[in-house]
Amino acid sequence: MGERGEATSELVVIFGITGDLARKMTFRALYRLERRKLLDCPILGVASDDITVEELIDRAGEAIRHTGEPFDEAVFHRLAKRLSYLHGDVTDTALYDQLAERVGTDRRCLYYLEMPPSLFAPIVENLGRAGLLQRSRVAVEKPFGHDLPSARDLNARLRAVLREDQILRVDHFLGKQPVADLEYLRFANTTLAELWDRHSVAEIHITMAENFGVEERGSFYDAVGALRDVVQNHLLQVLALFAMEPPVGPGDDDLNDKKAELFRAMPPADPAHYVRGQYRGYADVPGVAAGSQTETFVALRLQIENWRWAGVPIFLRAGKALPERVTEVRLFTRRVPALAFMPQRERAQRNQIVLRIDPDPGLRLQLVAQDDQDGQAWRDIHLDSSFARDLGEPIRPYERLLHAAMIGDRRLFAREDSIEETWRIVAPLLDQPGEIHRYEPGSWGPEAAQELLHGHRSWQKPWLPESSRSH
Ligand code: BG6
Repeated sequence: MGERGEATSELVVIFGITGDLARKMTFRALYRLERRKLLDCPILGVASDDITVEELIDRAGEAIRHTGEPFDEAVFHRLAKRLSYLHGDVTDTALYDQLAERVGTDRRCLYYLEMPPSLFAPIVENLGRAGLLQRSRVAVEKPFGHDLPSARDLNARLRAVLREDQILRVDHFLGKQPVADLEYLRFANTTLAELWDRHSVAEIHITMAENFGVEERGSFYDAVGALRDVVQNHLLQVLALFAMEPPVGPGDDDLNDKKAELFRAMPPADPAHYVRGQYRGYADVPGVAAGSQTETFVALRLQIENWRWAGVPIFLRAGKALPERVTEVRLFTRRVPALAFMPQRERAQRNQIVLRIDPDPGLRLQLVAQDDQDGQAWRDIHLDSSFARDLGEPIRPYERLLHAAMIGDRRLFAREDSIEETWRIVAPLLDQPGEIHRYEPGSWGPEAAQELLHGHRSWQKPWLPESSRSH
């Protein structure tokens, strides 16, 4: 994690502190930062609930315990002392006058908006009007727009009152340890760096599988669908870090420049290589419209038209109600020539490199070796690293992102140009979504997702951690 410096926030203001995200993620992240002595400013919660600060503190304690985080009273006591609370209506200018009185206009604040996206711009405009943004930063959660025009509009409204370096667009995948570590893994290791291009790599597969359905998020999800929910943001951000050129320096823009360049080299996705699925039973989820055509599964093909990756297809699939919860990026190398020293001049299988993002992050190198018992046969062998075992307990995504937001490290946040590029890339799929294929919950999605890979490597069974393989 980065160093504290001049830019460190003097106050964190969390809009929506009584909401779901705070309950599930934010309090735990703050608590963990407190435990690691990385918090050194007060925290002001803002929400519409008329509760006392004591009630907020109780909720925070309950929320942290509920996550299963080991609970140390002394640490929580320190965190609780930082908390204060202001209730009010975020669309009412009176709230911002009160805020200005409490905060003062020249404090360096981090405003963290854990709010519905339709409120991002109105809140920021109100903060601006009350003179609260001069030295502050604003973090916004996803979704950032629902297509290219809406993302542009939102950017324009934020940029009317904020500089780009004051805006932190949160994508929690960028806080996941193996994603944050990609830059290092790729460029600090010759063995990886030297084969990371079209000369050595034949294709790339990305899988994000979830073994649960939409459950209580029906009305949110039905208006969004898998492509907007996880592909345009999370998976394209991962792809950018996986495929970009090395940043030329340690600055925030050095990394974001390379990600933006990568996106700019990607042509718009082709609806002819796009498969949408919906699991059977989705239509019965509360909040889902009758006859909904929203996809809960997507598989698609992407291209990167630059010197490093031209001609290397990228296949991506993401879905709910699949057999496992696993997210991985899998790279297949080109094949070696036929082995003349073998009696049949055989060709060995391709090597595979797998970065597992969830669960139990790790890296696998899959090689082939000759089976000693049967001199004619090949066997896959695996060189595996589990990062938790080899690198220690990871920093959790929201802990990493909140800390980065507080110290003003923008490398872990998505920049305006990248967000707009990613909407451009998926735009044809939003415009021409095509038919929806039903699939059984607990299957790997519709058959058409297999056909998408015709002529290429088929989808592989993901690399699962030991614990999930035993049951
Ligand atoms: C969210 C999506 O952004 O990411 C969810 O809205 C998805 O639908 C979630 O389940 C996955 O995140 P994680 O960290 O659990 O893999």
